[in-house]
Amino acid sequence: MEKLLSIISREIGDAFEACGYERELGRVTVSNRPDLCEYQCNGAMAGAKKYHKAPFMIADEVAEKLQSSKVVKDVASVKPGFLNFNLDNEYLASYINQMKTSKKHGIELSAPEKIVIDYGGPNVAKPLHVGHLRSAIIGESVKRILRYAGNEVIGDAHLGDWGLQMGLIITELKERKPDLVYFDHEYTGEYPEEAPFTISELEEIYPCASGKAKVDEEFAKRAHDATVMLQNKDRGYTAIWNHILKVSIEDLQKNYSKLDVHFDLWKKESDAQPYIPDMVQMLKDKGLAYISNGALVVDVAKPEDTKEVPPCIILKSDGASLYQTTDLATIVEREKLFKPNRIIYVVDKRQEMHFTQVFRVSRLAELVPEDTKLQFLGFGTMNGKDGKPFKTRQGGVMRLEHLIRDINDAVYDKIMASRDEDEETARENAKIIGLSAIKYGDLSNQASKDYVFDVDRFTSFEGNTGPYILYTIVRIKSILKKFGQEIPTAITVPDGVAQKALMLDMTRFADVFAQASAEYAPHKLCAYIYDLANDFNRFYHETKILAEEDQDKKKGYIALISYCKDILETCIELLGFAAPEKM
Ligand code: ARG
Repeated sequence: MEKLLSIISREIGDAFEACGYERELGRVTVSNRPDLCEYQCNGAMAGAKKYHKAPFMIADEVAEKLQSSKVVKDVASVKPGFLNFNLDNEYLASYINQMKTSKKHGIELSAPEKIVIDYGGPNVAKPLHVGHLRSAIIGESVKRILRYAGNEVIGDAHLGDWGLQMGLIITELKERKPDLVYFDHEYTGEYPEEAPFTISELEEIYPCASGKAKVDEEFAKRAHDATVMLQNKDRGYTAIWNHILKVSIEDLQKNYSKLDVHFDLWKKESDAQPYIPDMVQMLKDKGLAYISNGALVVDVAKPEDTKEVPPCIILKSDGASLYQTTDLATIVEREKLFKPNRIIYVVDKRQEMHFTQVFRVSRLAELVPEDTKLQFLGFGTMNGKDGKPFKTRQGGVMRLEHLIRDINDAVYDKIMASRDEDEETARENAKIIGLSAIKYGDLSNQASKDYVFDVDRFTSFEGNTGPYILYTIVRIKSILKKFGQEIPTAITVPDGVAQKALMLDMTRFADVFAQASAEYAPHKLCAYIYDLANDFNRFYHETKILAEEDQDKKKGYIALISYCKDILETCIELLGFAAPEKM
């Protein structure tokens, strides 16, 4: 559907043209003085020089022409030459009704692209912590937005399963349970199906092993050797590694689904390893990679760099590959499997240099076609109220599970304090509302910025919060339930300022959505629904909706608020949360 602002601009442009001026002068903006008018146009000011006429004379002529317009009304020419006007009420109602019957509220669908979005980035055997939260929340929302825009989007968790952590776990396990069959090199039979550890053991083993490696050189060496053996496909180690993967992935999926985050793919860093030898050879053949201080590197600096961009190390002097090597090989793999038009990485912005190097090597080596976009969506740090990276009260790394639990408890207490609710319902609702608090609290900030995680503020039912948005939706649901009849379809002409303001904001959906999807900016949707929720609540407080005696009017109100709820629900779905039935 054509955007309202562009329809209005065309209408004004037509009037300029009919008066003998160029139509481009008819560009319209939303008024910055809503007390005076809804829209304005400064075209007459701009045209004055060109047509050697006083701007107010041009504005007068155009205003006169617009008196019979079906799109705009109350057109006033204001000295020295501005055009102020409002949208015609009937036109507004017909526009919204058209939007309501269009697919996806009338957004413009662009040519669909295939997009891989790399987000989440959990690591095997390490519990999810708050650092992973932002990637999951932002990535999930961007994925949903790009999909809604009509693209084919593949969300990949890109599991970190390839590194020293594996050797550390294996070594520690061997120390604790040396008799396990996995460590018997003579053994040729099948390995047990059951893992020799639970997820809680695994989560305890890793930090213990990593602590040991820091103080015990011998242990560190054994872990390093175990990693190399695993990478060389030792049978027993591979079997343990598969157990580690399975146990971890199950646990991770459980935690991600609590966040309503769902990946299409669970590819692993290890999946990219087979692509490394050929890729390295190719980098050498193309003359890009050379030996420097024993390591194999590619120069990626550019003359226009303002910051030093060091050479990208491909292989260390002992021949081991690195994080960069894995990411390059993953690009090779993705190109082979999907031929994506875009790959988007939702990763902590502190990894920006890593991606600069990886992207530059990819371009130099032409790992992907020239028009394939490689994009880094770096996010800022989630801080505590003290302005430092968020920690537990004891100063440790906050596990995601515990953070979710704390938020849910806070919401639960609020629900119980405000009214009598049976415990089970309150717990269920606390989960739904708690999720909105976490996600909205994060997404309402521009992704690249740091933000302060504030449980009290995020869980408040008032102000710019997830729970406030849900509260508004639930309020509408409750009115619709009380109305008790089938929801009327036709939205009628507005009869008050608050109703019109609400309707005008509803028409902005397509425009806001287009920006959010072009800029990967869920925060724009948050700002939009906050406005919309405020508009609705103002309208609600000023209007007797259910008590309205004029039945036609009442039906129009009901149709309007029901559609307002649909738009709000579409937006929160795109942000990655949902509303409960009651609150
Ligand atoms: N596992 C990594 C970490 O915890 C994040 C992975 C991000 N994605 C990527 N393709 N490098 O830091």
